Amino acid sequence: MNRKYRKTIIAGNWKMNKTATETAQFAEAIKPLLPKTRACEAVICVPALNIAAAQKALKGSRIQVGAETLHEAASGAFTGEMAAGMLADIGVKYVIIGHSERRQYYNETDFTVNQKIRAALDAHLTPIVCVGESLQQRELGVEQELLAYQVMTAVSGLSAAEMKRVVIAYEPIWAIGTGKTATAEQAQEICAHIRACIRKKYDARTARAVSILYGGSMNTGNAAELLGMPDIDGGLIGGASLKPADFAKLIECPAQVENG
Ligand code: 13P
Repeated sequence: MNRKYRKTIIAGNWKMNKTATETAQFAEAIKPLLPKTRACEAVICVPALNIAAAQKALKGSRIQVGAETLHEAASGAFTGEMAAGMLADIGVKYVIIGHSERRQYYNETDFTVNQKIRAALDAHLTPIVCVGESLQQRELGVEQELLAYQVMTAVSGLSAAEMKRVVIAYEPIWAIGTGKTATAEQAQEICAHIRACIRKKYDARTARAVSILYGGSMNTGNAAELLGMPDIDGGLIGGASLKPADFAKLIECPAQVENG
């Protein structure tokens, strides 16, 4: 983390979990557990259907409600999809773009990710853009080249001012939902590499302003070590964000890391 230059963000990705009723129960359970110190932004990205329920239940708390995806077009004949403007209109700020599950199951590509980022920025949303290598790609030793390609394609066409509004989440696919976390050193190496790519394309000021999160089996046991790394500015958390006590602890973690 480096709170002098950029935000620390602890974001949950609920994926396809919890009904509206369970969402409200989660909110009631976590509210009394939330730390008062504000060393990070706290976000939970929930299924579109439950955004309104989550907003209502978390109103007045420090947790912001985000979305898990959006469509790149502003409107039109795209049955089942939702546009950036619709999310902005109901008060959503953060939206996850290009999660590996969206890439794997819904044919999202680096090119559609680029278009979705454009749509999000145009609607004044903050995109959390997911990138990461598969196990085979890591075994081949091509992760640095791959990550550079993914990030550079994703942010193609963005001005430096727009780049600063993008959040990147490094999520190695082999660490998602597997209980297998990248070591803090492995995650730091890639997050620093991503920042170096942004520096090369833009400049040092832009690169140091971008928050880069780690995602992949992050939990209360490993978060402090990961967040202690200079280029890891938070987490995108799946499983552990579904448990009120665990997620409250994760929101508290940046302040603890900062205070040593
Ligand atoms: P897990 O924390 O469950 O591994 O999920 C990570 C993830 O995919 C967050 O987007």
